[in-house]
Amino acid sequence: MKREREARLVVRGGKKLLGDVTVHGAKNAVLPMLAAGMLSDEPVTLTDCPRITDVEDMATMLGALGCAVTREGRSMTVCGGCLGSETPAELAGVMRSSVFMLAPMLVRTGEARMHAPGGCRIGARPTDIHLDGLRRLGAKISEEDGCIVCRADRLKGADIVLRYPSVGATENLLMAATAAEGRTRIIGAAREPEISSLADLLRKMGAAVGGEGTPVLTVEGAGRLSGAVAAPVPDRIVAATVLTAVAVCGGKVALSGAQIGHLGAVLSRLLSGGTRLTEHGGVLIFESDGVPSPCRIETGPYPLFPTDMQAPLMAYMCFARGTSSVRETVFESRFAHAAELAKMGAEIGVAGSYAFVNGRGELKGARVHAPDLRGGAGLVIAALAAEGESVISGVGHIDRGYERIEELFSSLGADIVRTGE
Ligand code: UD1
Repeated sequence: MKREREARLVVRGGKKLLGDVTVHGAKNAVLPMLAAGMLSDEPVTLTDCPRITDVEDMATMLGALGCAVTREGRSMTVCGGCLGSETPAELAGVMRSSVFMLAPMLVRTGEARMHAPGGCRIGARPTDIHLDGLRRLGAKISEEDGCIVCRADRLKGADIVLRYPSVGATENLLMAATAAEGRTRIIGAAREPEISSLADLLRKMGAAVGGEGTPVLTVEGAGRLSGAVAAPVPDRIVAATVLTAVAVCGGKVALSGAQIGHLGAVLSRLLSGGTRLTEHGGVLIFESDGVPSPCRIETGPYPLFPTDMQAPLMAYMCFARGTSSVRETVFESRFAHAAELAKMGAEIGVAGSYAFVNGRGELKGARVHAPDLRGGAGLVIAALAAEGESVISGVGHIDRGYERIEELFSSLGADIVRTGE
């Protein structure tokens, strides 16, 4: 997989953001839904898929397992079911979401061999909750030649208690349970909206799934699933990134496609004296004077503050005057962006899972490197509001989850271009 690595974003900060943005399907919904497409031999179509590299890489991974994936505009169709039982090492190394191959491979071929999944380096990201759950459904798990190997001729429904509401494990186990004989309950399940999209797709494919959005998911195993057409939820992290940028830069944006109910934890920090949020016919209109207020955040499973918005909010805190604090409880060592923000003049102290920001109301443009996807989004926000020019490298990380982020923000009046392609 050859990818452009030299791209840079050049940002001249200080412009207000004004205009309209349409939010498309969520990366974190589309990835497991594409994997679920492999559970059926019939075509499964997902509408409104984002054009981001994580989705392209997922399609490549499905292709490597014998499944055809086609795209027409924003619709993607998965066709042919899963024929392989080993994630290609090269792809698995760069994609955390290769872990979603576990359930389809196991269900369709009786075996799943998985190389260590990659993705952003934000903590250990183990897979024990996925594997413990599969074991409860009757899979035998071993380690062979550096691969995790799961085997099962048939799966049997069971009560599975998750020690932590892992999003990916909930999704993997939901998929596996559709093929298990009898009833499965996933207790202590994650409640993220993206899980509801997967549940909705599986139901449309003929599985009896219920309880999404609550801590107990139930599945009555249905055997082979049929084709279906389904839509992912809109990307709440993209929506929240745009709102945070407007809160820092000032301006007014009309956001179509976003669901206000998914944005509560972030909005509660962004809405202060100088901001206004209204909703007209499903369009969110957010206005800000560009003067952020200091705040505290503690990340946690949905509906708590999303860890994926921690870096963008840290950028926001730098532009507030006063002390703000962050506690990261989901992924240890998800603070690589703090050192980059410091290059722009930020005063941030990191101690274990805490970060304290001494906001001085401004940052200065600098050369910085996106350390991971959401850290990169935080740096873009910082650069949009900073004085002078910033050059951001590591753009490949940002492209994993945002569609041409420079086009998104330049359409709102920001001075941001991509160079080096
Ligand atoms: C998903 C999202 C990611 C988001 C994260 C938390 C996708 C494709 N990615 O990642 O954007 O940041 O949820 O909202 O949807 N853990 C274990 N053992 C396991 C699984 C997880 O210890 O078997 C731990 C992880 O190390 C982490 C925590 O649980 O500390 C949360 O991980 P999880 O909810 O699984 O996140 P992902 O599904 O990887």
